[in-house]
Amino acid sequence: MEQRIREICRVMMDAEREAAKLMLQAHEVPAETKTDRRDVVTEFDRRVQALLVQRLREAAPGARFYCEEQDEHDDLYAEELFVIDPIDGTMNFVHGFHHSCLSVAYARRGELCAGAIYNPYVDEMFHAVRGEGAFLNGRAIRVSREALRDSIVCYGTAPYDMRLADESFSLARIAFEASLDLRREGAAALDLCSVAAGRAGLYFEMRVSPWDYAAGLLIVQEAGGDCRRLDGRPLVLEPERDSIAVGAPGALAEFLSLVKSRRAST
Ligand code: IPD
Ligand code: CA
Ligand code: CA
Repeated sequence: MEQRIREICRVMMDAEREAAKLMLQAHEVPAETKTDRRDVVTEFDRRVQALLVQRLREAAPGARFYCEEQDEHDDLYAEELFVIDPIDGTMNFVHGFHHSCLSVAYARRGELCAGAIYNPYVDEMFHAVRGEGAFLNGRAIRVSREALRDSIVCYGTAPYDMRLADESFSLARIAFEASLDLRREGAAALDLCSVAAGRAGLYFEMRVSPWDYAAGLLIVQEAGGDCRRLDGRPLVLEPERDSIAVGAPGALAEFLSLVKSRRAST
């Protein structure tokens, strides 16, 4: 990849480290409700987003933005675009459950070129540049080689849509029976990083948005993982909220075939 993309990725990481300092200053943060009581936002989500946008604009003045806390999103397929989740895991953040991160992806005409996800609580920076591998604090990472039966599985509950709860928990049951155990940690971008780093064999959720997975998708792919929708279609950057299933290729294929058999029988 060209030097400019590496430079932009460096700016993304520096901006995340800087903005994370704001997050770490927070104590007893009041939450505002968005669509329902589980869907919350804080002044820190907005302040972190504003600082990231400012720093990224300085580095790429013509780039457009697709951010979670933005009133109107720019075109996801713009010539140059940043996809930002300022705080992924806001519910954790509000409750002092220290497992949240900042997530930034850089795309050109819809193709992901760079991704950076920072967990300030444990000082872990995950990043990837297309074609150059995935890294955790500068060291190369790979997805696990374990079979599903010998893996931990992360999942999300798609908490903003209760209509998906029955299906989410029946998929969780399938994954639980087929694996070692489940984890519901509350930050989709970090679930993707857990797969990329080989800590978990699989992550799935019934509904996510582009800012939840944009950076993590590239990081998982660059770590040798496979990224799909739950119906088996490849996962690409697109505006619709949809399902996600990512993992080490073998573990993911096994899970998707169990999901397919179950859906065929109901
Ligand atoms: C949420 C978290 C959560 C996942 C939701 C996401 P947010 O993001 O990643 O783990 O289950 O689907 O929307 O709202 O904290 O940025
Ligand atoms: Ca968020
Ligand atoms: Ca999110």
